[in-house]
Parts: sequence; C-alpha cells; structure tokens
Amino acid sequence: MTARIIDGKQVASAVHDEVAAGVAEFKKKHDAVPGLTVVLIGDDPASHSYVKGKERACEKVGIRTETIRHDSSITQKALIEIVEGLNADPQVNGILVQLPLPDHLDGDAVIHAIDPMKDVDGLHPENAGLLMLGQPRFAPATPLGVQRMLVEQNVDMKGAKVVIVGRSKLVGMPLTALLLQKGVGANSTVTVCHTGTKDIGAETRRADVLIAATGYPGTITTDMIKPGAVIIDVGVSRVDDATRKRGYRLTGDVDFEGASEVASAITPVPGGVGPMTISMLLVNVLHAAELAVSN
Ligand SMILES: NC(=O)c1ccc[n+]([C@@H]2O[C@H](COP(=O)([O-])OP(=O)(O)OC[C@H]3O[C@@H](n4cnc5c(N)ncnc54)[C@H](OP(=O)(O)O)[C@@H]3O)[C@@H](O)[C@H]2O)c1
Repeated sequence: MTARIIDGKQVASAVHDEVAAGVAEFKKKHDAVPGLTVVLIGDDPASHSYVKGKERACEKVGIRTETIRHDSSITQKALIEIVEGLNADPQVNGILVQLPLPDHLDGDAVIHAIDPMKDVDGLHPENAGLLMLGQPRFAPATPLGVQRMLVEQNVDMKGAKVVIVGRSKLVGMPLTALLLQKGVGANSTVTVCHTGTKDIGAETRRADVLIAATGYPGTITTDMIKPGAVIIDVGVSRVDDATRKRGYRLTGDVDFEGASEVASAITPVPGGVGPMTISMLLVNVLHAAELAVSN
C-alpha cells in the first residue's frame, strides 16, 4: 500500500479563507478588528520563526497583530505586568505568550495570569478544565488542527481506535480530551502512550489512527503500524543535514518512508500539522473577538 499524503497546507488554506471571511463579517458588524498580541521573550531562533509565521498569517486574514519583544533579562514580575496590561486592553482579543520561556521564568504562573477569555492558546487551567468537561471555549491550536485534518480527510472517528504517543499539556492531553468527546470528528476510543508505557508497539499496532507527538525522530517505526492506519505526525525535530543550505532538515517522529508503505494516509513533516496549528490559532483569535462583543 502507498499512503495518501495529507496536505496540511491545503487544509490550512481553506481554514484561512474561512477566517478571512469571518473577520470581514466581524468588521462590518462591529466596526472593530480582531487583535492578537504575542509576547516573545529571549532569542530562541525557532520561537522567532514561529512568531513571524503567526504575524504573517494574521496579516493575511485581516487580524491586527502586534508582538511585544523583550530580551531574556526580563523579571517574572515585569512579564506578569505586561500580561496584566494586555488583559485590561479592550483592543486585545487574544494573548499568546510564546513558549518555552527562559529557564528563570515560571511559565505556568505567566499562563495563569492571562485573562482566560483572551487565552487563545487554550493553556489556562480554566480553559483546560472546560475542555476536559466537554465544554470547550479555547482548545490548543495543534490538537484542533489535528482534529480538523482528520475531519477534512473524512476519517470516520466515531468508534475509531486512536493511539496518541505523547501526553503533553500542549498536544497529547488536550487532543485526548477533544477526541473522547461525543460529536463530529471525535467519539473515538483513545489510548495515550508515554515514556512509562510498557510496550508502545503493542498499543500502536491496534491503532486505526496513530498520532505521534514526542519530538523524537524514529519513535514510530514501520513495524509499529497497523496496515491501513491513518498516521498524523505532530513531531518536529531538526536533524543535521549537510546537503541542505541551512545545515539541517526538519523531520517528524515517524519513519515516513517505511510508514508510507503500510499506512493508508500520512502527514508529512514539514507541510502536515504545522500549517494547521497557525490556522487554528486564527480561528481562536476570531472566536475570542466574538466572545468579547457578546459579553
Ligand atoms: N507541528 C506543530 O505545529 C507542533 C506544535 C506543537 C508541538 N509540535 C512538536 O510536537 C512534538 C511534541 O511536542 P510537545 O510540546 O508535546 O513535547 P513535550 O512536552 O516534550 O512532550 C513529549 C511527550 O512525548 C512523550 N515521549 C517522549 N519520548 C517518548 C517515547 N520514546 N515513547 C513514548 N512517549 C514519548 C513524553 O512522555 P513523558 O510525559 O512520559 O515524558 C511526553 O509526554 C515536538 O517535536 C514539537 O516540536 C509541533
């Protein structure tokens, strides 16, 4: 079997169009522009590149965006004050603190300081709790993007055996909550694997839908995949590659070549989940603006 490649850019582009139409409608109705403010601390090149991508995407769909940049000398108190200022600013609908923060800062405390109604990353405990209760307000963008891709691919998720490898607050946990709920693109039977799982292959070989989110290339080898499974590779790692101009290439958690021979469909890295993450952030910002005017 040769797997169908799931084109994340194509699905993302459709979502961008939907958001652009929603933003235009919002402007007409409320004479206001949805706004996202990103807080970027330090000089991590990957974070700077992600933030640039977010800025560009916002501009394309008509969302006002600003980035507050600060070097890593900032104190916890000063960072919380920035967040509190944004909480109080009615022009700001969405606040995103780019993670990871430098080591001396307490990321959880900063996230907890964000007004939950502006928490477009869906990481505030109030939003995480609502998601667990099946009443989502803001879910993190990557899990939302994975779910949207599966829906767009017409994967029948109802009753599907889903195995997620990775249990992070950003990906594995919220994705589990999303896929467990009753409703479209969900109602699945979900198993979550992690470093404490005894035999990961025994779990993954039962998966109709296998989602890898570990950040370690080679975590999912061909022998761990059930023939015909749908594979979603969330992982993104830099691997040295002297043949590339920049000296590295991006790779996922899954052995893409081997998996493509066994699976029925698979996301590439790059060009799979990544573009969806940005699109679903835009969806969350528009949703935050709509919630702000309805209150
Ligand atoms: N494409 C995108 O837009 C996007 C967005 C977000 C993240 N990502 C990528 O997705 C990956 C995961 O991100 P994250 O933030 O969720 O990472 P994370 O916080 O480091 O979590 C990784 C998870 O994977 C588990 N894990 C690690 N190695 C494993 C192994 N060999 N077998 C089983 N489980 C293993 C860990 O288990 P324990 O809990 O037991 O330690 C942990 O739960 C990274 O490559 C990240 O760059 C991509």
